[in-house]
Amino acid sequence: MNVLVIHGPNLNLLGTREPQTYGTQTLDDVDARIAREAAELGMTVRCVQHNSEGAIVDELHAARGNVDGIAINPGAYTHYAYAIRDAIAAIAVPTVEVHLSNTSAREEFRRTSIVAPVCLGTVAGFGIESYALALRALAASHARKPV
Ligand code: DQA
Repeated sequence: MNVLVIHGPNLNLLGTREPQTYGTQTLDDVDARIAREAAELGMTVRCVQHNSEGAIVDELHAARGNVDGIAINPGAYTHYAYAIRDAIAAIAVPTVEVHLSNTSAREEFRRTSIVAPVCLGTVAGFGIESYALALRALAASHARKPV
């Protein structure tokens, strides 16, 4: 199984960005955790980070037909970026929405996800482990898929 992980805006600042909310681990630490989980699941994984909405849309388009699953943390785009939602719907690759923080327990504007309806599901609130859980969800969903 071939999986793409997309980190959205500001996640390159992990480790120093609002550590009380996002912890002190860096994006490299997150990617190392993802690589470890992927190896355990027998997956091939590639992680990318983009700050701009268009770059994320381009990444989603390039993934079409080339990966079996996507885990995406769209950052603040989660709450208003309809182009990302439309790209996920357009490419028809099973996608899991991921968040480090529990967005439902934070400010009102974070309680709305416009990507959630086009994703298999959402994992939020478990810090770095949210990504490992998202890979597990993709693996389970892939295994259930009729051939
Ligand atoms: C986030 C939650 C978003 O609301 C926020 O804008 C982020 C990070 C998370 O992983 O918890 O940038 O996606």
